[in-house]
Amino acid sequence: MTETTQRILPSDLKIRKGQTPIVCLTAYDTPMARRTDAHCDLLLVGDSLAMVVYGLETTRGVTLDTMIAHGQAVMRGAERSCVVVDLPHGSYENSPEQAVESARRVYDETGCQAVKLEGGEEMAAAVAAIVKAGIPVFGHIGLMPQKAEGRDGFKIQGKDDGSAQQVMRDAKAIEEAGAFAIVIEGTVEAVARDITETIAIPTIGIGASPACDGQILVTQDMTGLFSDFTPKFVKQYADAGTVIDEAIAAYATDVRERRFPELIHCFGVPTSIKAASD
Ligand code: KIV
Repeated sequence: MTETTQRILPSDLKIRKGQTPIVCLTAYDTPMARRTDAHCDLLLVGDSLAMVVYGLETTRGVTLDTMIAHGQAVMRGAERSCVVVDLPHGSYENSPEQAVESARRVYDETGCQAVKLEGGEEMAAAVAAIVKAGIPVFGHIGLMPQKAEGRDGFKIQGKDDGSAQQVMRDAKAIEEAGAFAIVIEGTVEAVARDITETIAIPTIGIGASPACDGQILVTQDMTGLFSDFTPKFVKQYADAGTVIDEAIAAYATDVRERRFPELIHCFGVPTSIKAASD
């Protein structure tokens, strides 16, 4: 990090509740971390990389080692954003001790600013234990992709009274456990709004509500790099996938038709020959 760059910390974001919206995106590698860092307050090394990078059906199936490798890559590219790394499925649910052990590895081996885990009331003890160990935690409630059995398992939460009350209880439990902020994913708008107005820590929405204290999207979704399916809550700001497709098609044609490489792309070619080939 350059001397003048001030890293945004979880404690800085916590006091942004109700102030200017907190801008968050996912990043999984160094080049994307460099691109997103200048514009965002928080970069999430999300386990969504299981789907958008590794081609898996759900976010399950990525290991702690994989998340750590991607966390290290993002930390190499992000100088100012608060970098948060997801604890993957299977790395924290067994006990608070397991959660602390996994969080400690991620935090120490990547140098990130916080970890994120999915879960409400049932994960409050794990969140409290990680926070007590000195590691900031970003909560994640509402639709929890790690619990989905397949793509059809991604269900919007808060549609009936029972579900709405559960999401509210989850938010309160994770706040009380000491999280500095909470992602609310795939939840009925009025419920996400109500939670945002009720709890004292920032809510970060994805398929939630404009009233949330910040927003997050998967960068591959909003840039059009991942187009296997596009959830309703995504606003696509670019069609980078098409740009890349066209570039690759043009390259393939050039190679087949011997238009690439040209002598200007080669080494040891006398300038006079290069000029003659122009
Ligand atoms: O893994 C992820 O990218 C996430 C965001 C969608 C919040 O959890």
